[in-house]
Amino acid sequence: MGSSSSKVLTGLLCTPSVSCQVPAASAASSENWTFQPLPFSSSDRWIVDANGNNVPVVGINWPGAADTMLPEGLGYQSIANIAQKITDTGFNTVRLTFAIELVDDILDNGGDVALSTTLTNALGQTNGIAMLAKIINNNPQFNANTTRLQVFDAVAAGLATQDIYVHLDNHVSKAMWCCSLTDGNSWFGDTYFDTNKWVRGLSYMAAHGKANWQTFSSMGLRNELRPALTGAPNLQPYTWSTWKTYMTAAASAIYSANPDVLIYFSGLESDFNIEPAVGGSTLLDPGFSFDVASYEWAHKLVFEMHEYDEGISSSCPVYETILESFGADATTRTTGNRAPLVISEWGHDETDASDAWQSAYSECLAQFIVQRQLGWMVWVLAGSYYIRSGVQDSDETYGLLDHMWSEYRGVNSSAAIKQLVQQTYAAYGQ
Ligand SMILES: *[C@@H]1O[C@H](CO)[C@@H](O)[C@H](O)[C@H]1NC(C)=O
Ligand SMILES: *[C@@H]1O[C@H](CO)[C@@H](O)[C@H](O)[C@H]1NC(C)=O
Ligand SMILES: *[C@@H]1O[C@H](CO)[C@@H](O)[C@H](O)[C@H]1NC(C)=O
Repeated sequence: MGSSSSKVLTGLLCTPSVSCQVPAASAASSENWTFQPLPFSSSDRWIVDANGNNVPVVGINWPGAADTMLPEGLGYQSIANIAQKITDTGFNTVRLTFAIELVDDILDNGGDVALSTTLTNALGQTNGIAMLAKIINNNPQFNANTTRLQVFDAVAAGLATQDIYVHLDNHVSKAMWCCSLTDGNSWFGDTYFDTNKWVRGLSYMAAHGKANWQTFSSMGLRNELRPALTGAPNLQPYTWSTWKTYMTAAASAIYSANPDVLIYFSGLESDFNIEPAVGGSTLLDPGFSFDVASYEWAHKLVFEMHEYDEGISSSCPVYETILESFGADATTRTTGNRAPLVISEWGHDETDASDAWQSAYSECLAQFIVQRQLGWMVWVLAGSYYIRSGVQDSDETYGLLDHMWSEYRGVNSSAAIKQLVQQTYAAYGQ
């Protein structure tokens, strides 16, 4: 951890010499932010509520896009317990991920799939039945015939009970752990990335959420676009022009199905680079130009970026300059497409022993977020997954929660997250 970053952060964040523990008083209180009325819009660089007041987005990722196509963790906890933990930590938003395959099954393959079937498909007969029993034991409102989308509805309802906004993210097309360059989900036209089904799936979920989810605030068009090395026959050129063609079409489809939700635009290189979209042009693709104001959904656009530790953050000023050059200047620039920016994934090993909670990366990024009043969503809530890349009950060291989705994985690490939560609200006067 760079001492320079610690100095910069003195008084703002935890440092190697100052504990990240929050005062005991704060740990006991629960909801500690103002619920603001939907629908949200974007206005200049801000996300604003129905009354025009600025909204901080302070969120955590809850994955639901892997093989089972179910929100994770329900074999260990009830939805209510998980939602309570999210509230206790102070988050106001959950980025819930889903696979387009869920919608394809509903529309093309005989209808929504029951829990018993999706679990035995993903985990095998014996383990699938065992997991079904655990999920029902924790969540007795379900039975073997409860469908995947009904489980998503129950999660959305559980979050609404806690006043938590639901941001729905399309993570993949074919349900699996994301992301590689060869997984067939990478880029428009890739092996599983059928662009028509993608637009249809987004549109379906936009309408479904509008009808059924009380705190549905926003949707992300696609997680971590990246080059595909599959040689799929329909693969489109990896250019910003291709990006614009499909992203604007999908945004228009969402907007017509649901004119209320914000629409998050991710970039290329696994969402590390949003600069051409923010700037409105790029030398790499002279035919590309992007003028947000010319679209009917201009007042719904939010940019999103992902920022993991790329080993480029030993000095906060240098790190900020790099992030800005990849589009993190979306909120401050005076030319191009000035708009709200949410860091919709960042995160690190949550075990205290890793020390990642006090790395230069964590401290520089946290400082940048607070100073710029950016939204953010940490990766990840999950302490473990039903199945990840073929491994069942797979542990997640980046999980805020432990393997059983019960306690925080790290004491100091979770305290650092809570501190950033409170600092973000404070930057908005809350
Ligand atoms: C957590 O913070 C406390 C207080 O600063 C410190 O004594 C302890 O060593 C830290 N634990 C780890 C694993 O970093
Ligand atoms: C909530 O806000 C109050 C008043 O500002 C503060 O004392 C408390 O620590 C906060 N709670 C949490 C969970 O941070
Ligand atoms: C599930 O549906 C089947 C077929 O309709 C029915 O026989 C069975 O009783 C249902 N199971 C539950 C737990 O409702």
